[in-house]
Amino acid sequence: MTERAEAIFFELFEGLPRQGPGSAACTERAFGLCQDLPSAPRVLDLGCGAGAQTLDLVRLGAGSVVAVDGHAPLVARLRERVVELGLEGRVEARVGDMAALERPPLDLAPESFDLVWSEGALYNLGLPAALAVCRRMSKPGGCLAFSEAVWHSADPPEEVREVFAEYPGMGTEQDVRALLEREGWDTLGSFGLSDAAWWDEFYAPMEARLEEMRERYAGDAEALEILRELAREPAMHRRHGATYGYTFFIARRP
Ligand SMILES: C[S@@+](CC[C@H](N)C(=O)[O-])C[C@H]1O[C@@H](n2cnc3c(N)ncnc32)[C@H](O)[C@@H]1O
Repeated sequence: MTERAEAIFFELFEGLPRQGPGSAACTERAFGLCQDLPSAPRVLDLGCGAGAQTLDLVRLGAGSVVAVDGHAPLVARLRERVVELGLEGRVEARVGDMAALERPPLDLAPESFDLVWSEGALYNLGLPAALAVCRRMSKPGGCLAFSEAVWHSADPPEEVREVFAEYPGMGTEQDVRALLEREGWDTLGSFGLSDAAWWDEFYAPMEARLEEMRERYAGDAEALEILRELAREPAMHRRHGATYGYTFFIARRP
């Protein structure tokens, strides 16, 4: 990605309610599938983005949440919301790399979380490596919940394959469940995200913001071309959304 494309990408994404598909209803359903959590679980939210699900987790009963994301402006947005809501004692929003949780600046202790959470972010490390990270941070008997892109078709169209090329090793729901077992987790459940979870807080606001940005950048051919590329993803979902989806997986460390 060129520097300009990166700047416009972040301008688009930083202003969205969520940075990936998801909804409060899906977060609540996944939280409800966790088993034997203590009454005020300590939660680690990896790749929290602007923290929509972080705040939902607090509403659902998390005692405290450490929310980590590598992109500082998104963490800053979450911090502002935390202060507005008076949740400073319960949410710690940290900038850092989820592949280096135990090292500075994060310095998180292994086996110290009752619940490890991640919506649409584990693919950045590759799922096997990410599951190993989650396992190290989870207390024995702790739970893991994450959403991840999966194939719904054995033969998705070429443009869909291109967009998901950045998801190394993307598989089907069954593939992910098998991987969880291999990596030492007991699967407690899985469910597909509804279409509303793609549109209401992600693609619909993205398309509205793209429209705004097209007006703002009218006459700037380079910016308009970048915006045209970014608009391909929601348009593709409208055409081919049946061939892939996001699935929430809930598991427990034995
Ligand atoms: C698709 S977004 C999902 C954000 C949020 N969970 C949501 O659903 O709205 C993925 C997030 O992972 C973050 N991310 C990617 N690689 C990361 C890494 N190695 N360490 C920490 N965060 C990372 C990105 O900055 C981005 O905010």
